[in-house]
Amino acid sequence: MNPGARLERTVGGVTFPTPVIICSGVWPFEPDLWDRKNLPGVGGICTKAVTARPRTGNEGHRVWETPCGVLNSIGLQNCGVDAFLDTHLPLISKSGVPFLVNVAMETEEEVVHTLGLLSNRKEEIPGVELNISCPNVSGGGMSWGMTPEGASQAVSIARRAWKGPLWVKLTPQMRDPHEVAKAAEASGADALVVANTWLGMAIDVERATPVFQRTFAGLSGPAVFPLALRLVWDVAGCVRIPVIGCGGITVPEDAIAMLQAGAQAVEIGAAIFRSLDAPETLCRGITDYLDRHGLDTVGSLSGMARSDARR
Ligand SMILES: Cc1cc2nc3c(=O)[nH]c(=O)nc-3n(C[C@H](O)[C@H](O)[C@H](O)COP(=O)(O)O)c2cc1C
Repeated sequence: MNPGARLERTVGGVTFPTPVIICSGVWPFEPDLWDRKNLPGVGGICTKAVTARPRTGNEGHRVWETPCGVLNSIGLQNCGVDAFLDTHLPLISKSGVPFLVNVAMETEEEVVHTLGLLSNRKEEIPGVELNISCPNVSGGGMSWGMTPEGASQAVSIARRAWKGPLWVKLTPQMRDPHEVAKAAEASGADALVVANTWLGMAIDVERATPVFQRTFAGLSGPAVFPLALRLVWDVAGCVRIPVIGCGGITVPEDAIAMLQAGAQAVEIGAAIFRSLDAPETLCRGITDYLDRHGLDTVGSLSGMARSDARR
């Protein structure tokens, strides 16, 4: 077998040369950074969130380091779908790097508008990752993905507006992971990304005030890995569509554990902040594991730790 093909995965309608995907919000659109020869080990890239209109993002602190993770409150800063299509899509679609366009679930009208414009260019777009952690403004402000009803509504709206591969990125704040995951699957998701950042906060004690303008912020990085692993285990046990593990993956053993818990691929962010070599290091570690255990392809790792898969 071609050694490269051992790591290839087709997940939720998109084929990646490796199972290591760079998560949304981490990778800029600079042309050099989308040159395949500068991306060893990278299976694919999720873009920063795209919204119907440009967003300038939140005021004040946007990022705050904690001992084993990062809090962020960027506020979905992006250039808006029109500029994305004019400026960024031509570059990234020609790069040959598999990618997903991360779309923030805003109001129904806004997300239908965004997905309609993406659909007009669907030949250039391998897939969409729908972020349902955003607040449902007309539904009282609670995040769409908190409840099965909200998740079902969001995914149904997106499914009607976008016919290509549709990944749905869950929020770890959901009250009942099984019910939310099953609702997203039943409403047409092709894969589930588990999960987005965990709500946390920081206080500037000298000023006796919350650090972030919006008080709460999203925690990512090694601190969340065991929490994300548990969610992947839970969700992968109750849906038939593929799961992509995301949250705190830093070393090869983390990626392997996510796969063994039932994920078909992983997304990484914090690991990239620590080292641009992270995707290659993770892939080397996965290949080494396959060799040591006499396994042919990375697909054989998925669900390996589950007794339901062993039977
Ligand atoms: C600075 C920053 C910006 C992010 N922006 C987005 C975003 O626009 N859309 C999204 O779905 N997730 C976004 N995320 C969440 C990441 O995609 C990912 O879910 C999270 O960082 C957990 O993975 P990690 O622990 O490997 O970093 C962002 C994370 C960070 C740190």
